[in-house]
Amino acid sequence: MDLKIELENTRIEESRIQASRQKAQEELAKLWSGDLDFTGWVKDPLEFGEEKISALVKTAEEIRGKCDYFIVLGVGGSFMGAKAVIDILAEPGSGTEVLFAGYNFNGRYLKELISKTDGKDVCLCVISKSGTTTETLSAYGIFKKLMLEKYGKDETAKRTYVVTENRSNFLFDEATDEGCTIFDLPVDIGGRYSVLTPVGLLPIAVAGIDIKGLMKGASDITDKGAFADKLLDYAIVRNIYYNKGKRIEVFEFFDPYFAFFGEWLKQLFGETEGKEGRGLFPVSLMFSRDLHSMGQFLQQGTQDFFETFITIEEPEDDVEIPEIAMKPFAGKTIEQINKCAEKGVLAAHVNAGIPAVSIKLKEVSPESIGELLYFFETECAVSALLSGVDPFDQPGVEAYKKEMRAYINQL
Ligand code: PA5
Repeated sequence: MDLKIELENTRIEESRIQASRQKAQEELAKLWSGDLDFTGWVKDPLEFGEEKISALVKTAEEIRGKCDYFIVLGVGGSFMGAKAVIDILAEPGSGTEVLFAGYNFNGRYLKELISKTDGKDVCLCVISKSGTTTETLSAYGIFKKLMLEKYGKDETAKRTYVVTENRSNFLFDEATDEGCTIFDLPVDIGGRYSVLTPVGLLPIAVAGIDIKGLMKGASDITDKGAFADKLLDYAIVRNIYYNKGKRIEVFEFFDPYFAFFGEWLKQLFGETEGKEGRGLFPVSLMFSRDLHSMGQFLQQGTQDFFETFITIEEPEDDVEIPEIAMKPFAGKTIEQINKCAEKGVLAAHVNAGIPAVSIKLKEVSPESIGELLYFFETECAVSALLSGVDPFDQPGVEAYKKEMRAYINQL
Protein backbone atom coordinates (compact mmCIF):
# COMPACT_ATOMS: atom_id res chain seq x y z
CA MET A 1 0.00 0.00 0.00
CA ASP A 2 1.33 3.39 -1.08
CA LEU A 3 -0.73 5.60 1.16
CA LYS A 4 0.23 6.78 4.65
CA ILE A 5 -1.60 8.91 7.14
CA GLU A 6 0.30 10.88 9.75
CA LEU A 7 -1.42 12.22 12.82
CA GLU A 8 1.49 13.79 14.72
CA ASN A 9 0.15 17.29 14.15
CA THR A 10 -3.49 16.62 14.98
CA ARG A 11 -3.06 17.66 18.64
CA ILE A 12 -5.30 14.75 19.62
CA GLU A 13 -4.05 12.27 22.20
CA GLU A 14 -3.59 8.68 20.98
CA SER A 15 -5.80 7.43 23.83
CA ARG A 16 -8.73 9.48 22.51
CA ILE A 17 -8.33 8.00 19.02
CA GLN A 18 -7.87 4.52 20.48
CA ALA A 19 -11.18 4.89 22.33
CA SER A 20 -13.04 5.19 19.00
CA ARG A 21 -11.26 2.47 17.04
CA GLN A 22 -13.63 -0.32 17.93
CA LYS A 23 -16.67 1.78 16.97
CA ALA A 24 -15.04 2.73 13.66
CA GLN A 25 -14.34 -0.94 12.92
CA GLU A 26 -17.97 -1.75 13.68
CA GLU A 27 -19.12 0.93 11.23
CA LEU A 28 -16.72 -0.47 8.62
CA ALA A 29 -18.17 -3.94 9.19
CA LYS A 30 -21.65 -2.48 8.60
CA LEU A 31 -20.47 -1.16 5.23
CA TRP A 32 -19.04 -4.56 4.35
CA SER A 33 -22.08 -6.49 5.54
CA GLY A 34 -24.09 -5.46 2.48
CA ASP A 35 -27.04 -4.72 4.81
CA LEU A 36 -26.95 -0.97 4.16
CA ASP A 37 -28.49 0.49 1.00
CA PHE A 38 -26.12 2.03 -1.57
CA THR A 39 -23.02 0.13 -0.49
CA GLY A 40 -22.48 -1.62 -3.83
CA TRP A 41 -19.27 0.41 -4.27
CA VAL A 42 -17.66 -1.24 -1.22
CA LYS A 43 -16.94 -4.57 -2.88
CA ASP A 44 -17.04 -3.24 -6.43
CA PRO A 45 -13.26 -3.03 -6.99
CA LEU A 46 -12.89 -6.66 -5.89
CA GLU A 47 -15.86 -7.92 -7.82
CA PHE A 48 -15.82 -5.79 -10.98
CA GLY A 49 -13.66 -8.38 -12.67
CA GLU A 50 -11.24 -8.66 -15.60
CA GLU A 51 -14.02 -9.27 -18.08
CA LYS A 52 -15.82 -5.99 -17.44
CA ILE A 53 -12.55 -4.08 -17.38
CA SER A 54 -11.51 -5.63 -20.71
CA ALA A 55 -14.88 -4.75 -22.24
CA LEU A 56 -14.48 -1.13 -21.15
CA VAL A 57 -10.90 -0.99 -22.44
CA LYS A 58 -12.05 -2.45 -25.78
CA THR A 59 -14.84 0.12 -26.09
CA ALA A 60 -12.44 2.89 -25.12
CA GLU A 61 -10.02 1.76 -27.85
CA GLU A 62 -12.84 1.81 -30.43
CA ILE A 63 -13.80 5.31 -29.31
CA ARG A 64 -10.18 6.49 -29.45
CA GLY A 65 -10.01 5.11 -32.97
CA LYS A 66 -12.94 7.13 -34.23
CA CYS A 67 -13.03 10.49 -32.50
CA ASP A 68 -10.93 13.52 -31.70
CA TYR A 69 -13.16 14.53 -28.80
CA PHE A 70 -15.15 12.43 -26.37
CA ILE A 71 -17.74 14.77 -24.89
CA VAL A 72 -18.88 13.63 -21.47
CA LEU A 73 -22.22 15.04 -20.34
CA GLY A 74 -22.90 14.69 -16.63
CA VAL A 75 -22.99 16.61 -13.39
CA GLY A 76 -22.03 15.95 -9.76
CA GLY A 77 -21.10 12.34 -9.19
CA SER A 78 -21.64 11.68 -12.88
CA PHE A 79 -18.51 13.58 -13.93
CA MET A 80 -16.39 14.82 -11.03
CA GLY A 81 -14.47 11.63 -10.33
CA ALA A 82 -13.61 11.10 -14.00
CA LYS A 83 -12.40 14.68 -14.40
CA ALA A 84 -10.37 14.47 -11.19
CA VAL A 85 -8.56 11.33 -12.34
CA ILE A 86 -8.08 12.51 -15.93
CA ASP A 87 -6.60 15.82 -14.76
CA ILE A 88 -4.06 13.93 -12.66
CA LEU A 89 -3.16 11.00 -14.91
CA ALA A 90 -3.82 11.82 -18.56
CA GLU A 91 -0.80 12.45 -20.77
CA PRO A 92 -1.46 15.53 -22.89
CA GLY A 93 -1.51 14.88 -26.62
CA SER A 94 -2.14 11.15 -26.20
CA GLY A 95 -5.03 10.86 -28.65
CA THR A 96 -8.70 11.51 -28.07
CA GLU A 97 -9.32 14.38 -25.69
CA VAL A 98 -12.07 14.04 -23.09
CA LEU A 99 -14.18 17.18 -22.70
CA PHE A 100 -16.88 17.79 -20.12
CA ALA A 101 -20.21 19.57 -20.45
CA GLY A 102 -23.65 19.32 -18.93
CA TYR A 103 -22.42 20.48 -15.53
CA ASN A 104 -23.47 24.11 -15.85
CA PHE A 105 -26.03 26.23 -17.68
CA ASN A 106 -23.53 28.57 -19.27
CA GLY A 107 -24.15 29.66 -22.86
CA ARG A 108 -20.62 30.89 -23.47
CA TYR A 109 -19.15 27.59 -22.23
CA LEU A 110 -21.37 25.60 -24.58
CA LYS A 111 -20.76 27.90 -27.54
CA GLU A 112 -17.01 27.57 -27.08
CA LEU A 113 -17.23 23.79 -26.79
CA ILE A 114 -19.39 23.56 -29.89
CA SER A 115 -16.97 25.71 -31.84
CA LYS A 116 -13.93 23.74 -30.54
CA THR A 117 -15.45 20.44 -31.67
CA ASP A 118 -16.92 21.76 -34.93
CA GLY A 119 -15.41 19.95 -37.93
CA LYS A 120 -13.85 17.29 -35.68
CA ASP A 121 -14.96 13.75 -35.05
CA VAL A 122 -16.80 13.40 -31.78
CA CYS A 123 -18.48 10.78 -29.63
CA LEU A 124 -20.90 11.54 -26.81
CA CYS A 125 -20.98 9.99 -23.39
CA VAL A 126 -24.15 10.74 -21.46
CA ILE A 127 -23.92 9.85 -17.79
CA SER A 128 -26.84 10.09 -15.43
CA LYS A 129 -27.97 7.68 -12.74
CA SER A 130 -31.51 9.05 -12.67
CA GLY A 131 -31.57 9.69 -16.42
CA THR A 132 -33.52 12.90 -15.88
CA THR A 133 -31.02 15.54 -14.71
CA THR A 134 -31.63 19.02 -16.18
CA GLU A 135 -28.01 20.01 -16.89
CA THR A 136 -27.15 16.67 -18.51
CA LEU A 137 -30.27 16.26 -20.59
CA SER A 138 -30.42 19.81 -21.87
CA ALA A 139 -26.79 19.52 -23.04
CA TYR A 140 -27.59 16.09 -24.51
CA GLY A 141 -30.36 17.62 -26.62
CA ILE A 142 -27.97 20.26 -27.95
CA PHE A 143 -25.15 17.87 -28.85
CA LYS A 144 -27.46 15.18 -30.15
CA LYS A 145 -28.98 17.61 -32.66
CA LEU A 146 -25.52 18.63 -33.86
CA MET A 147 -24.52 15.00 -34.22
CA LEU A 148 -27.69 14.05 -36.09
CA GLU A 149 -26.98 16.84 -38.57
CA LYS A 150 -23.43 15.67 -39.01
CA TYR A 151 -23.65 11.87 -38.83
CA GLY A 152 -27.30 10.95 -39.33
CA LYS A 153 -29.37 8.71 -37.07
CA ASP A 154 -27.51 5.38 -37.19
CA GLU A 155 -24.00 6.77 -36.84
CA THR A 156 -25.11 9.13 -34.05
CA ALA A 157 -26.40 6.13 -32.12
CA LYS A 158 -23.11 4.31 -32.74
CA ARG A 159 -21.24 7.33 -31.38
CA THR A 160 -23.39 7.76 -28.29
CA TYR A 161 -22.46 5.94 -25.09
CA VAL A 162 -24.76 6.05 -22.12
CA VAL A 163 -24.13 5.19 -18.48
CA THR A 164 -27.26 4.89 -16.39
CA GLU A 165 -29.18 2.44 -14.26
CA ASN A 166 -30.39 -0.66 -16.00
CA ARG A 167 -34.06 0.25 -15.63
CA SER A 168 -36.56 2.52 -17.23
CA ASN A 169 -35.78 6.24 -17.09
CA PHE A 170 -35.86 8.91 -19.80
CA LEU A 171 -32.23 8.39 -20.83
CA PHE A 172 -32.29 4.59 -20.61
CA ASP A 173 -35.50 4.33 -22.65
CA GLU A 174 -34.32 6.74 -25.35
CA ALA A 175 -30.88 5.13 -25.61
CA THR A 176 -32.45 1.66 -25.79
CA ASP A 177 -34.85 2.73 -28.55
CA GLU A 178 -32.05 4.28 -30.56
CA GLY A 179 -29.60 1.43 -30.09
CA CYS A 180 -26.86 3.36 -28.28
CA THR A 181 -24.31 1.44 -26.22
CA ILE A 182 -25.44 1.43 -22.60
CA PHE A 183 -23.23 0.73 -19.59
CA ASP A 184 -24.87 -0.20 -16.35
CA LEU A 185 -24.55 1.91 -13.21
CA PRO A 186 -25.57 -0.48 -10.42
CA VAL A 187 -28.70 0.61 -8.57
CA ASP A 188 -26.93 0.21 -5.21
CA ILE A 189 -24.15 2.71 -6.01
CA GLY A 190 -24.83 6.44 -5.57
CA GLY A 191 -23.36 9.10 -7.87
CA ARG A 192 -20.61 10.36 -5.58
CA TYR A 193 -19.39 6.81 -4.90
CA SER A 194 -19.42 5.81 -8.57
CA VAL A 195 -16.01 6.83 -9.92
CA LEU A 196 -14.81 3.21 -9.98
CA THR A 197 -17.79 2.06 -12.05
CA PRO A 198 -18.33 2.76 -15.79
CA VAL A 199 -19.34 6.31 -14.75
CA GLY A 200 -15.69 7.10 -14.15
CA LEU A 201 -13.94 4.20 -15.81
CA LEU A 202 -15.24 4.75 -19.36
CA PRO A 203 -14.11 8.40 -19.71
CA ILE A 204 -10.89 7.60 -17.84
CA ALA A 205 -10.10 4.71 -20.21
CA VAL A 206 -10.89 6.89 -23.23
CA ALA A 207 -8.35 9.38 -21.89
CA GLY A 208 -5.77 6.59 -22.29
CA ILE A 209 -5.37 5.87 -18.56
CA ASP A 210 -4.74 2.36 -17.28
CA ILE A 211 -8.05 1.53 -15.57
CA LYS A 212 -6.78 -1.92 -14.67
CA GLY A 213 -4.09 -0.25 -12.54
CA LEU A 214 -6.66 2.11 -11.04
CA MET A 215 -8.90 -0.81 -10.03
CA LYS A 216 -5.91 -2.76 -8.74
CA GLY A 217 -4.98 0.12 -6.42
CA ALA A 218 -8.58 0.31 -5.19
CA SER A 219 -8.90 -3.42 -4.69
CA ASP A 220 -5.55 -3.66 -2.90
CA ILE A 221 -6.74 -1.18 -0.30
CA THR A 222 -10.22 -2.71 -0.32
CA ASP A 223 -8.69 -5.57 1.59
CA LYS A 224 -10.19 -5.14 5.06
CA GLY A 225 -6.74 -5.66 6.61
CA ALA A 226 -5.56 -2.28 5.33
CA PHE A 227 -8.34 -0.45 7.12
CA ALA A 228 -8.01 -2.57 10.26
CA ASP A 229 -4.53 -1.19 10.86
CA LYS A 230 -5.21 2.41 11.91
CA LEU A 231 -6.26 3.65 8.48
CA LEU A 232 -9.66 4.59 9.85
CA ASP A 233 -7.98 6.98 12.28
CA TYR A 234 -8.61 9.73 9.76
CA ALA A 235 -12.39 9.21 10.00
CA ILE A 236 -12.08 9.11 13.79
CA VAL A 237 -10.01 12.30 13.94
CA ARG A 238 -12.51 14.15 11.73
CA ASN A 239 -15.29 13.28 14.17
CA ILE A 240 -13.24 14.29 17.18
CA TYR A 241 -12.59 17.67 15.55
CA TYR A 242 -16.29 18.13 14.83
CA ASN A 243 -17.17 17.33 18.43
CA LYS A 244 -14.47 19.78 19.59
CA GLY A 245 -16.19 22.57 17.62
CA LYS A 246 -14.31 22.56 14.31
CA ARG A 247 -16.68 23.27 11.44
CA ILE A 248 -14.44 23.32 8.35
CA GLU A 249 -12.01 20.84 6.84
CA VAL A 250 -9.50 22.41 4.47
CA PHE A 251 -8.04 19.95 1.96
CA GLU A 252 -4.63 21.27 0.90
CA PHE A 253 -2.61 20.19 -2.13
CA PHE A 254 0.79 21.17 -3.48
CA ASP A 255 0.13 19.78 -6.97
CA PRO A 256 -2.11 21.83 -9.29
CA TYR A 257 -3.16 18.70 -11.17
CA PHE A 258 -5.10 17.74 -8.03
CA ALA A 259 -7.36 20.82 -8.18
CA PHE A 260 -10.33 18.83 -9.41
CA PHE A 261 -9.59 16.04 -6.97
CA GLY A 262 -10.33 18.72 -4.38
CA GLU A 263 -13.68 19.34 -6.09
CA TRP A 264 -14.43 15.62 -6.02
CA LEU A 265 -13.63 15.54 -2.29
CA LYS A 266 -15.90 18.51 -1.68
CA GLN A 267 -18.82 16.70 -3.28
CA LEU A 268 -18.04 13.39 -1.58
CA PHE A 269 -17.84 14.85 1.91
CA GLY A 270 -20.34 17.68 1.43
CA GLU A 271 -23.20 15.52 0.17
CA THR A 272 -22.38 12.67 2.52
CA GLU A 273 -22.11 14.58 5.78
CA GLY A 274 -23.85 17.92 5.39
CA LYS A 275 -27.29 17.10 6.70
CA GLU A 276 -29.46 17.26 9.83
CA GLY A 277 -27.74 20.54 10.73
CA ARG A 278 -24.41 18.73 11.03
CA GLY A 279 -21.19 18.22 9.11
CA LEU A 280 -17.77 19.66 8.39
CA PHE A 281 -17.84 22.15 5.50
CA PRO A 282 -15.24 20.89 2.99
CA VAL A 283 -12.96 23.42 1.33
CA SER A 284 -9.95 22.86 -0.90
CA LEU A 285 -6.88 25.01 -1.45
CA MET A 286 -4.01 24.75 -3.90
CA PHE A 287 -0.54 25.69 -2.66
CA SER A 288 1.62 27.55 -3.20
CA ARG A 289 -0.93 29.68 -5.13
CA ASP A 290 -3.40 30.04 -2.27
CA LEU A 291 -0.72 30.75 0.31
CA HIS A 292 -0.63 34.16 -1.36
CA SER A 293 -4.36 34.65 -0.92
CA MET A 294 -5.75 32.45 1.86
CA GLY A 295 -2.48 31.93 3.75
CA GLN A 296 -3.18 34.98 5.91
CA PHE A 297 -6.61 33.68 6.92
CA LEU A 298 -5.31 30.23 7.72
CA GLN A 299 -2.52 31.61 9.88
CA GLN A 300 -4.47 34.23 11.81
CA GLY A 301 -8.18 34.12 10.89
CA THR A 302 -11.12 32.39 12.61
CA GLN A 303 -9.81 29.08 13.86
CA ASP A 304 -12.82 26.84 13.26
CA PHE A 305 -11.03 24.63 10.74
CA PHE A 306 -8.49 21.85 10.61
CA GLU A 307 -6.27 21.01 7.66
CA THR A 308 -5.85 17.82 5.66
CA PHE A 309 -2.64 17.92 3.67
CA ILE A 310 -2.57 15.59 0.65
CA THR A 311 0.95 15.37 -0.69
CA ILE A 312 3.14 13.29 -3.01
CA GLU A 313 6.40 11.96 -1.58
CA GLU A 314 8.15 11.24 -4.88
CA PRO A 315 6.87 13.49 -7.68
CA GLU A 316 7.82 12.14 -11.09
CA ASP A 317 8.71 15.33 -12.93
CA ASP A 318 11.10 18.01 -11.81
CA VAL A 319 12.83 21.05 -13.29
CA GLU A 320 16.15 22.51 -12.23
CA ILE A 321 16.35 26.22 -11.51
CA PRO A 322 19.41 27.50 -13.42
CA GLU A 323 22.35 29.35 -11.90
CA ILE A 324 21.16 32.65 -13.40
CA ALA A 325 18.22 32.62 -10.98
CA MET A 326 18.23 34.52 -7.67
CA LYS A 327 20.79 33.18 -5.22
CA PRO A 328 18.96 30.96 -2.74
CA PHE A 329 16.98 29.23 -5.48
CA ALA A 330 19.71 28.79 -8.14
CA GLY A 331 20.80 25.20 -8.59
CA LYS A 332 17.85 23.78 -6.64
CA THR A 333 14.88 22.10 -8.28
CA ILE A 334 11.27 23.26 -8.32
CA GLU A 335 10.13 20.18 -6.43
CA GLN A 336 12.82 20.71 -3.77
CA ILE A 337 11.36 24.16 -3.24
CA ASN A 338 7.85 22.66 -3.23
CA LYS A 339 8.91 20.32 -0.38
CA CYS A 340 10.28 23.33 1.51
CA ALA A 341 6.94 25.08 1.02
CA GLU A 342 5.16 21.98 2.33
CA LYS A 343 7.38 21.71 5.41
CA GLY A 344 7.35 25.47 5.96
CA VAL A 345 3.55 25.76 5.88
CA LEU A 346 3.18 22.81 8.22
CA ALA A 347 5.73 24.25 10.67
CA ALA A 348 4.13 27.73 10.62
CA HIS A 349 0.67 26.27 11.14
CA VAL A 350 1.78 23.87 13.87
CA ASN A 351 3.45 26.80 15.65
CA ALA A 352 0.16 28.70 15.46
CA GLY A 353 -1.69 25.72 16.95
CA ILE A 354 -3.56 24.77 13.77
CA PRO A 355 -4.31 21.04 13.76
CA ALA A 356 -3.42 19.04 10.65
CA VAL A 357 -3.71 15.54 9.26
CA SER A 358 -1.19 14.47 6.59
CA ILE A 359 -2.12 11.99 3.88
CA LYS A 360 0.90 11.00 1.85
CA LEU A 361 0.98 9.22 -1.49
CA LYS A 362 4.35 7.75 -2.40
CA GLU A 363 3.93 8.57 -6.08
CA VAL A 364 1.32 9.41 -8.68
CA SER A 365 0.23 6.34 -10.67
CA PRO A 366 -3.06 4.69 -11.65
CA GLU A 367 -2.60 2.29 -8.71
CA SER A 368 -1.95 5.01 -6.13
CA ILE A 369 -4.86 7.14 -7.37
CA GLY A 370 -7.20 4.12 -7.27
CA GLU A 371 -6.07 3.60 -3.70
CA LEU A 372 -6.63 7.26 -2.82
CA LEU A 373 -10.15 7.30 -4.30
CA TYR A 374 -11.20 4.21 -2.41
CA PHE A 375 -9.52 5.44 0.77
CA PHE A 376 -11.55 8.65 0.77
CA GLU A 377 -14.82 6.91 -0.12
CA THR A 378 -14.42 4.53 2.81
CA GLU A 379 -13.26 7.21 5.26
CA CYS A 380 -16.13 9.44 4.25
CA ALA A 381 -18.78 6.75 4.68
CA VAL A 382 -17.36 5.59 8.04
CA SER A 383 -17.08 9.20 9.19
CA ALA A 384 -20.76 9.83 8.43
CA LEU A 385 -21.78 6.64 10.19
CA LEU A 386 -19.71 7.69 13.22
CA SER A 387 -21.45 11.05 13.31
CA GLY A 388 -24.86 9.40 13.02
CA VAL A 389 -26.01 10.58 9.58
CA ASP A 390 -26.94 8.49 6.54
CA PRO A 391 -23.87 8.58 4.26
CA PHE A 392 -25.78 7.74 1.12
CA ASP A 393 -28.79 10.00 0.84
CA GLN A 394 -28.95 13.66 -0.24
CA PRO A 395 -32.51 14.81 0.53
CA GLY A 396 -31.42 18.45 0.58
CA VAL A 397 -30.59 18.66 -3.12
CA GLU A 398 -34.23 18.20 -4.11
CA ALA A 399 -35.34 21.56 -2.70
CA TYR A 400 -33.65 23.78 -5.29
CA LYS A 401 -34.50 21.36 -8.11
CA LYS A 402 -38.21 21.68 -7.31
CA GLU A 403 -38.02 25.48 -7.31
CA MET A 404 -35.92 25.54 -10.49
CA ARG A 405 -38.32 23.22 -12.33
CA ALA A 406 -41.21 25.51 -11.41
CA TYR A 407 -39.38 28.46 -12.99
CA ILE A 408 -38.47 26.36 -16.07
CA ASN A 409 -42.09 25.35 -16.49
CA GLN A 410 -43.05 29.04 -16.60
CA LEU A 411 -40.64 29.81 -19.48
O1 PA5 B 1 -23.83 12.16 -6.01
C1 PA5 B 1 -24.94 12.39 -6.42
O2 PA5 B 1 -25.90 11.63 -6.19
C2 PA5 B 1 -25.23 13.61 -7.28
O3 PA5 B 1 -24.19 14.49 -7.31
C3 PA5 B 1 -25.54 13.16 -8.68
O4 PA5 B 1 -24.44 12.47 -9.20
C4 PA5 B 1 -25.90 14.35 -9.57
O5 PA5 B 1 -26.96 15.06 -9.03
C5 PA5 B 1 -26.26 13.88 -10.97
O6 PA5 B 1 -27.33 12.99 -10.92
P1 PA5 B 1 -27.57 11.97 -12.07
O7 PA5 B 1 -26.40 11.06 -12.14
O8 PA5 B 1 -28.82 11.26 -11.68
O9 PA5 B 1 -27.73 12.76 -13.33
